[in-house]
Amino acid sequence: MPKVVLITGCSSGIGLRIAVMLAKDEKKRYHVIATMRDLKRKDKLVEAAGDAYGNTLTLQTLDVCSDESVKHCISSVKDRHIDVLINNAGIGLVGPLESISIDEMKNVFETNFFGVVRMIKEVMPDMKRRRGGHIIIVSSTGLVRTLWGHGLPAAGVVFNDVYAASKFAMEGFCESLAVQLLKFNVTVSMIEPGPVHTEFEAKMVEDVSRKEFPGTDPETVQYFKNVYLPSSVDIFETLGQTPDDIARCTKKVIEASRPRFRNLTNPLYTPIVALKYADETGGLSVRTFYHVLFNLGALMHVAMKALRCVTCGCLRGRTVSPD
Ligand SMILES: NC(=O)c1ccc[n+]([C@@H]2O[C@H](COP(=O)([O-])OP(=O)(O)OC[C@H]3O[C@@H](n4cnc5c(N)ncnc54)[C@H](OP(=O)(O)O)[C@@H]3O)[C@@H](O)[C@H]2O)c1
Repeated sequence: MPKVVLITGCSSGIGLRIAVMLAKDEKKRYHVIATMRDLKRKDKLVEAAGDAYGNTLTLQTLDVCSDESVKHCISSVKDRHIDVLINNAGIGLVGPLESISIDEMKNVFETNFFGVVRMIKEVMPDMKRRRGGHIIIVSSTGLVRTLWGHGLPAAGVVFNDVYAASKFAMEGFCESLAVQLLKFNVTVSMIEPGPVHTEFEAKMVEDVSRKEFPGTDPETVQYFKNVYLPSSVDIFETLGQTPDDIARCTKKVIEASRPRFRNLTNPLYTPIVALKYADETGGLSVRTFYHVLFNLGALMHVAMKALRCVTCGCLRGRTVSPD
């Protein structure tokens, strides 16, 4: 029997590629329920799925922010039987804190944190009863996020304060829940990408270009626009992975005999994660990232250019972990 895999946020990016990769599995080991909040956005997925659409891949509407939508979607699954739940839907938020309203912040938590909690609460009781299941969460890597906003599960991200907090909250929630669920043979795994080239990045740039950052002092706006944003672009260009890289990593995690809890998708970030854990006071990573961003910006730009040269594609192919 194929495993039933339900994925949130499949209209674009990582969710779309995971759905297609699993649905096209050569051994046909998966039946994918690809969900999205608006089925009008299904065309890219349907096209990419090709013959798998209607066979190993079916579509469902699901908005992770709505109790009703989540309940309706899970109840429509045959016997409510889901072997693998992939919580992928998420939104970003970047900018000076002063310019972000509390409602915008709540919206990020509603999607990135409560959206996942809502899904898990609905699916978990059946998994516990069956004594089996795998819950996967697309979180965010430790390292690069530390600096520029794309990564760390347990490190801050300059100008990504609220987005980072929503992912941190998820990490704490999952670390706690994983222990209880192990008793019921239900596994929890975090997928932790750094920057990935998806609409996420485009939405962030578009969002920022529209904003005027009301209530923020000119000095902070200038750091955000002239220091943070160019560095963020550099990091994306140099270290960015493709959604297929993340899909391959996720497939490996699903197929592992003992799936790991944390799965960094890009080993190039490992030194930054190590920096954080090398000093339990937190001072080392805060000061290092401060110096890199504010004092060594130009050097960083050159280093990123050099790294792009060294890693030109051939090394990228080997960066998907776990191996
Ligand atoms: N791209 C990166 O650099 C990066 C790095 C680390 C982690 N991540 C994480 O990866 C995940 C996927 O992001 P992505 O890069 O693939 O970005 P993306 O292309 O923007 O995809 C995000 C998906 O989430 C969906 N979504 C948003 N709110 C939703 C809701 N309330 N209910 C259901 N679906 C909803 C979007 O649907 P609509 O089309 O309806 O908006 C879209 O399908 C996110 O959790 C993100 O935090 C991304």
